Amino acid sequence: MVKIDPAWKITTSLPSRHIEEVLTYSPAYYLKRLEKIGFTGKNSRILDAGCGAGIFTVAASRLNKQVKAIDATDKYLAVAKEITAKLKLKNIELRQGKIESLPYPDNYFDFIICYDVWMYTNRLKSLQEMFRVLKPGGKIYLGLIAGLGWYLDLIWQGIRDGKPNLIRISLKAIKDKVFTPLKETEELLQKTGFKLLEQGADGQAGDKKIKITPIFPDKKFGFWDTYEVLAEKKERTR
Ligand SMILES: C[S@@+](CC[C@H](N)C(=O)[O-])C[C@H]1O[C@@H](n2cnc3c(N)ncnc32)[C@H](O)[C@@H]1O
Repeated sequence: MVKIDPAWKITTSLPSRHIEEVLTYSPAYYLKRLEKIGFTGKNSRILDAGCGAGIFTVAASRLNKQVKAIDATDKYLAVAKEITAKLKLKNIELRQGKIESLPYPDNYFDFIICYDVWMYTNRLKSLQEMFRVLKPGGKIYLGLIAGLGWYLDLIWQGIRDGKPNLIRISLKAIKDKVFTPLKETEELLQKTGFKLLEQGADGQAGDKKIKITPIFPDKKFGFWDTYEVLAEKKERTR
């Protein structure tokens, strides 16, 4: 099911447009992204929340002491397990579960990655859980959050390519508010107790000297297509 070439390029037969897209970039690309946001440390613990096939998990294992990764869907976890076994990565623990109810102790992680996942969850509950398991001063990276532009573009693609189902799904996603305006993200972060450090287009948060090519565009039809935020769990004040 999974093939990995000497240049670290991974291919899988799992039919998923998202996995296909993220795997067009090798783990080396994701490693650079993690270095840019400073998610690296000799003794650090990192969580990949909603890891999918585990592309960030693999990159994180090279840069951190311990990696935990969790996902709700068995078929994606199976791919992640195969990839980590093939690469013989020993510092990764993968498990099935939901972000809204994380099986980890309080104040445990230095960093949390949550890429292309958060808007599909109960946003407040999952943020509260990720806050709980982060150490004070720990950082969270919420990446590839879909804005309204994402779904407007899908509707446009549906019209252009004559795909009524795509139009229907996208309209439903808009009605169900799957997209998350930046203002809502900011408010939820504040309500949970996070301090917003940075916000911007895909792959642009962090050290400006490290240049990252975004996987997805920033704006469509004047709205966010996708964006990301970097935030910190505030230290408790007495
Ligand atoms: C688009 S994929 C992104 C996967 C991975 N982060 C990546 O970038 O390749 C979304 C993932 O979120 C997972 N997911 C959705 N809701 C979840 C939840 N409430 N708890 C844990 N995982 C969830 C899905 O199973 C899926 O693997």
